[in-house]
Amino acid sequence: MSVTVRVPAKVNVQLAVGAARPDGFHDLANVFLAVGLYDEVTATAADELHITCEGPDADQVPLDHTNLAARAAQKLAARHGLAPDVHLHITKDIPVAGGMAGGSADAAGALLACDALWGTNTPRAELLDICAELGSDVPFSLVGGAALGTGRGERLRPLEVGGTFHWVFAVADGGLSTPAVYAEFDRLTEGVEVPEPLASKPLLDALAKGDPTALAATLSNDLQPAALSLRPSLADTLAAGTAAGALAALVSGSGPTNAFLTRDAPSATKVAEALLASGTCRTARLAPSPAPGATVL
Ligand code: C5P
Repeated sequence: MSVTVRVPAKVNVQLAVGAARPDGFHDLANVFLAVGLYDEVTATAADELHITCEGPDADQVPLDHTNLAARAAQKLAARHGLAPDVHLHITKDIPVAGGMAGGSADAAGALLACDALWGTNTPRAELLDICAELGSDVPFSLVGGAALGTGRGERLRPLEVGGTFHWVFAVADGGLSTPAVYAEFDRLTEGVEVPEPLASKPLLDALAKGDPTALAATLSNDLQPAALSLRPSLADTLAAGTAAGALAALVSGSGPTNAFLTRDAPSATKVAEALLASGTCRTARLAPSPAPGATVL
């Protein structure tokens, strides 16, 4: 028997970052929006825990027990006194190390798939606790839709979204390490008073209304200067998408994927074609939002 779970990528429409905390993490006001790019995780009973992966970037995914999906299976098994004997197969479509929570998606997918395969019926609140232990973005991968994440991003409040937003994602060559981008944020803000991160009311209103022009005017990412500092060529991609008529352009999370908000689906197609033609990215992907969270297929 096998169980397959589909899990969405995310874009941060607001990523307000506070000063580094004593534990090294940063307090956030993190407005997550799930987008229609998906990984699938299939769990099948096996003699021991092992992982396989297919997809264009599969060679960049660790297949050992450092993979977040393997750690998710181990944590769930430990909670129920089981052995984590499962084969996890990941069909990868979310860019790897791209700032779109691909690893977090695989962790949330593995958790839900194993819970169904093993019949452990773990309460939702406990699944969310395990997600938070696995990583700051993992709880959101489970719930999807739109949510405000506070703390290190793991404490979620669901948000209303009043319509469909059409995005284009420009996938860069190679990834960026999230800890390296946060470290660069710390370097760039050294000696500067970093304000407390707060969610933007105009941004939440624009989401609730489903108004892309209003949302475009309020998008923000405090990690963008750090990502651009580590990868200056991302500025060329942002400029190419803006020149092609995107309403707004920003780095997705810690990058290096760039996100472009467009007026509608035809405009998104035009922006994607222009980005590809510009030669400033490896590929361009269309994705509507919001998307549902981790779902058993
Ligand atoms: O929680 P997660 O394992 O996804 O975080 C990866 C890294 O990103 C952390 O080790 C930390 O360097 C950085 N981070 C942070 N503040 C957050 C979330 C992540 O500094 N709120």
